Amino acid sequence: APWTASVLTLFPEMFPGPLGHSLAGRALANGLWRLEASDIRGFATDRHHMVDDTPAGGGPGMVMKPDVIARAIDAAKAGLPAAPALYLSPRGRPLDQERVRALAEGPGVILLCGRFEGVDQRVIDGRGLEEVSIGDFVLSGGEPAALCLIDAVVRLIPGVMGAAETLAEESFTGDLLEYPHYTRPTEWEGRQVPDVLLSGHHGRIRSWRREQAERLTRERRPDLWSRYLARQGGGMRPTD
Ligand code: ADE
Repeated sequence: APWTASVLTLFPEMFPGPLGHSLAGRALANGLWRLEASDIRGFATDRHHMVDDTPAGGGPGMVMKPDVIARAIDAAKAGLPAAPALYLSPRGRPLDQERVRALAEGPGVILLCGRFEGVDQRVIDGRGLEEVSIGDFVLSGGEPAALCLIDAVVRLIPGVMGAAETLAEESFTGDLLEYPHYTRPTEWEGRQVPDVLLSGHHGRIRSWRREQAERLTRERRPDLWSRYLARQGGGMRPTD
C-alpha cells in the first residue's frame, strides 16, 4: 500500500490544498501516496455535533472534547494500524529532517489538527499522541502544520521528485544550508554569476559550493554548524 497521511481535522476542505498541485499533486494523482482527510465533527454523537467545550477551571477559548477526538483517532488507527499518531502543536518536539526521513520509511502517519485552545490532555495521554511542532511560532490551527509535514515527507517518496540527483545532492551537503544558485543571464542588473560556476571545472565548482554552504551555515545557524562539526569529526574536514 502507498504511504498514507490520515488527517483528522474540523476543516477537511483544507486538504489536499497546496498538496494537490505540482510534484506532490501529480504523485497523489498517480497513487504514489494517499491522503485521507476525516472530519472530526463526523465523530460527534450529540444532536448538535458538539466538538468543543469550555475549559475546566475557566479561562478563554474552547477545548476539543476527548471522546470525540478518541473516536476519530481510533477510526484512523483501524485504517493505519502501524502508523504513528501525531498531534500538531507548538508545544511539541520540533520536527526535523531526520524525523521526516523516518516517517517516509514507515507506512504513513495519522495527524490530529487542533483548533481553539487545544485538545483535552486526557486524549493526548490516553491515546499516546506524540506532540510535534513545525517551529517556534503559533499557527491558528494544526492544518497548515500538517500540510508542511506531509509535503516534507512526500518529496522523499521514491518517484515523487523529478530528478533523483536533487535528493542525492541534499545528502552530500545534508547537514548544511544550501549553497547559492544562479542561472542565465551571466550578468543581471550589474550582478555577475560567480566566475567559478562558468569555468567548467567541476572539482572547483564542487568545493566552491561546499565553502558557500559552510559559510552560510556558520553565519546563520550556529546550532547546525556545531552539529556539522561534531559529525565531521575524523572524516572529511570543513574548510576553515
Ligand atoms: N499548531 C499551532 N501552531 C503550531 C506549530 N507551530 N506547529 C505545529 N502545530 C501548530
